[in-house]
Formats: sequence, structure tokens, C-alpha cells
Amino acid sequence: MIRSLLIGCGAYLPERILSNAELASKVDTSDEWITKRTGIRQRHVAADGELTSHLALHAAREAIAAAGIDTQEIDLIVLATTTPDDTFPSTATKVQAGLGLGHGAAFDVQAVCAGFIYALAVADNFIRAGQAKTALVIGAETFTRLLDWEDRSTCVLFGDGAGAVVLQAHEGNGSAADYGVLSTHLHSDGRERDILYVDGGPSSTGTTGHVRMAGQEVYKHAVSKLAAVIDEALAANGLSVDDVDWLVPHQANRRIIDGMAKRMDMSSDKVIVSIDRHANTSAASVPLALCEAVRDGRIKSGDLVLVEAIGGGLAWGAGLVRIGLPD
Ligand code: ACO
Repeated sequence: MIRSLLIGCGAYLPERILSNAELASKVDTSDEWITKRTGIRQRHVAADGELTSHLALHAAREAIAAAGIDTQEIDLIVLATTTPDDTFPSTATKVQAGLGLGHGAAFDVQAVCAGFIYALAVADNFIRAGQAKTALVIGAETFTRLLDWEDRSTCVLFGDGAGAVVLQAHEGNGSAADYGVLSTHLHSDGRERDILYVDGGPSSTGTTGHVRMAGQEVYKHAVSKLAAVIDEALAANGLSVDDVDWLVPHQANRRIIDGMAKRMDMSSDKVIVSIDRHANTSAASVPLALCEAVRDGRIKSGDLVLVEAIGGGLAWGAGLVRIGLPD
């Protein structure tokens, strides 16, 4: 059975840091409210002229270097974003050009905060089907460009950043002890699109629009839907929570993260948390947190990692990945 090994990852954050205190000097909010309700202390914000493709390219180069592959081996780029540089062409093709690649396929996927899980699933399925051998999977956002800075209920929640991983085809034996992506599980429910959306678009208003969210509604869905898809991922592989070395959750709200860990009866020191420093970076959130923990040595080769995310759509999903290369 072909498996997609995760052999390298990279992350990038814009230099500028916007603290809660600085935000509170411009918006009717406070460090205390933001920290207590969300766990967020600061976020990174892209500079003028710094685009999603620039963040993505930094993360991609680090992932390629970590994987130790020749860039020319890449035959698929799947980039998850809600904040593409341009309406078209895709941001993935800009990254492809930036890497000096003119072969293979490159395209974007749009599943808002669940984007990285969707992109991982797409790339894994290409590899399993034999249509690609080495894939670059990226989550990248300049999400702050979608914010209405006068809407305190949303503008305090988000930040900019990018994360990337390299997947490579490898023969596994089909067991849950295999390295690589064991399975991915995707869901969406378009009936709930009105609780989290952007009030603009090329076809509807001709403008980009701003994020609108019924926070408590999203919160309720997040807890129940993420719990269900985690159960689904574990059951599909005949695994239990005890088999999971690390939970790398979408970084939307510290209370949701803690709630998921509690429900899974998972010790908090097995949960990767970066929301305090990154805020919600949408499609970049999971790969940013994952790569940070690989970089600092917490997540090691052979560790089984559970990733999950939910966002606008509603769209949500989970995946189980044994990191690194077998001996
Ligand atoms: N500063 C100060 N006060 C605020 C702020 C703020 N930034 N924002 C809202 N308030 C006020 C409200 O006006 C309200 O005041 P009132 O009681 O006088 O009416 C009070 O705080 C409580 O507001 P709630 O919205 O009820 O606060 P809640 O505890 O639900 O927290 C939050 C809001 C943090 C948004 C939470 O609902 C949440 O995290 N929801 C989930 C978000 C999420 O997971 N998104 C996922 C994906 S995002 C994507 O896909 C793009």
C-alpha cells in the first residue's frame, strides 16, 4: 500500500507583532478580555506588500530543506488559503514559479480554517493513486486583510502566517504502525455557511469583503464536530487516544483546544498550543503549530500525530500521521 510519508516541514511568520495591548489602544477591547476568552496574547501581521505567496514560499523552502530533497522532485503543490494574492491565477502557481518549477501540478484549495486538512487529504489521495510522488502541502494566509478593524468580536482573533510540509510516496504494509498519513477524514455542511463567512467576493459584490461570525454558534459546532471526526479517525485505524503521541489542533480558541483535550482524556502536555503567539491563522494554523513542535524537538520521527480543524463552510476534518521516515 502506498503511504505519503511526511518528511519535512517549515513555517514562517511575518516580522510585525501586534500585541493585545496595542490592539486595545485602537479597538474597544482589552488584553484581559482577549486572553481570558481566547488564550490569544499577540498575532503576527504581514507588512504592506507582503503577500500570502511570500509567506508560503518561506515556509516551503524551509520544508524542502528539512526534507533534504531536490526541489525538482516536487510534482504536486496543494496550497490552502482563503486569502490568495489574486483572484487568479492560484497562489500555488506563484509558489511554483518562486521555486523555479515548471512541471507537475499546482493549485489552491479553499476550506478556510480546515484548509490544511483538506490540502493534506488531496495530496495524500494523489500520492496513493500514483498521480504524484512528492507533494508540497502548504497552508498560508494574510487573514488580517479580511478583518473589519471596527468589529471587535472578530478583529482580535486572527493573524497571518504560513506552514508547509513535504509528503513523499513510500511503500507501507497497510497497518496502523506504518509511517506517513494513515488516514484523513473530511466533512462539510453548507447549511451552516451563514454563521461564518466573508461579506464579499468577485461574483457577489466585486469586493473582498470582511469576516462575519456568530462566535457562540461556531463554538458549539466546533466542539461537537471535532470530537466526532477525531473518534472517526481513531476508529478507522483501530487506534485509541492512548496511541496518539500528539494532538495538533486548529488554533482558534484556547477553550476549544482545552475542551477537546479534556474530552479525549489527553494530558495537556501532549497538546501543541501556539494560539497565544499566533492567534488564528486559518489554513496556516495547524502546519505552523506542527512545524514549531518539530523544530523544537517535541515531535520526533515515529510519533503519531492527530491533526484537526474546523472553519467556515462549515468545513472540518482530521488526519492521523506518523511523522518522519522509517529506519
Ligand atoms: N473585547 C471586549 N469585549 C468583547 C469583544 C472584545 N474583543 N468581543 C466581544 N465582546 C463582548 C460582547 O459584545 C459581549 O458583550 P455583552 O455581554 O455586553 O453583549 C461579550 O463580550 C460576550 O461576547 P460573546 O460573543 O458571547 O463572547 P464568547 O465568550 O462567545 O467569546 C469568541 C467570543 C471568542 C469569538 C468565541 O465565541 C469563539 O471562540 N468562537 C469560536 C470561533 C472559532 O472557533 N472560529 C473557528 C474558525 S474561524 C474561521 O474559519 C475563519
